[in-house]
Amino acid sequence: MSSKTMLEAKNITKHYERKIALSSLSFSIKQGELVALIGPSGAGKTSLLNSIAGLIPLQSGELLIDEKPLSSYKKGKLFAKKVGVIRQQFDLIGPLAVIHNVLAGKLADWGVIKALFSLLLPRDKEIAIKALERVGLTDKTFEITSSLSGGEQQRVAMARLMVQKPEMILADEPVASLDPARADDVLAMLIKIVLEEKQTLIASLHSVEYARKYFTRIISLKNGEIFFDLPTEKVTDDLLAELYQLEGASSR
Ligand SMILES: Nc1ncnc2c1ncn2[C@@H]1O[C@H](COP(=O)(O)OP(=O)(O)OP(=O)(O)O)[C@@H](O)[C@H]1O
Ligand SMILES: [Mg+2]
Repeated sequence: MSSKTMLEAKNITKHYERKIALSSLSFSIKQGELVALIGPSGAGKTSLLNSIAGLIPLQSGELLIDEKPLSSYKKGKLFAKKVGVIRQQFDLIGPLAVIHNVLAGKLADWGVIKALFSLLLPRDKEIAIKALERVGLTDKTFEITSSLSGGEQQRVAMARLMVQKPEMILADEPVASLDPARADDVLAMLIKIVLEEKQTLIASLHSVEYARKYFTRIISLKNGEIFFDLPTEKVTDDLLAELYQLEGASSR
């Protein structure tokens, strides 16, 4: 593993009105790490991922991506080469054919994508088809994206990410809407791609089982704070029980 620091969070704080979503978090993640973000509903996982993606502003603190402040990146291709996002809604354009959604990974701006959607250069086509092969969707290349099942759309989003090739991938509950067998498949596929491309992955998960199976480090959040941040093998059942314990049920 390289020693380059891909992400550094320094005392980041996020409020919504008076509700604290992230409370002065600090941590850093090295290039190539596979980090699972876990914790009860409302703990701040989505808020954290969305702040790193530059989608929501922080009240205080600083985020460094590849040693440069997040704010120094302009939205666009350069940032898209650093950070790629898989959200639950996948951000796919339903009425477009699968192949166009995959090629959108090469562009950073949906306005341009919509304008160019009918343009298919042979080289681009080859790149997209290769990515679709890797996710097992070649037979859907020219189908309308919205006609695919949730799991298939998740794989389209992954093929798009392969074309985008960002250094760091942020995935917010990437397998939440899938049946268990499919979820395991999709997650295994994501991890394989990330390892092959030497990317850094931060994924929020509701399944501790998947976090343990596929990730090398687990950061848990509770009430907007880091509850533990440990190599996977150090995460005990007791810690997990305490993490997910309901408010007021604590024996401490
Ligand atoms: N747009 C918003 N406006 C007001 N409060 C919000 C908003 N988004 C999130 N919150 C609050 O911030 C806190 C953290 O929410 P967040 O969505 O980050 O949690 P989460 O860990 O992703 O939860 P889940 O596991 O349910 O997805 C919650 O208390 C939530 O109610
Ligand atoms: Mg969430």
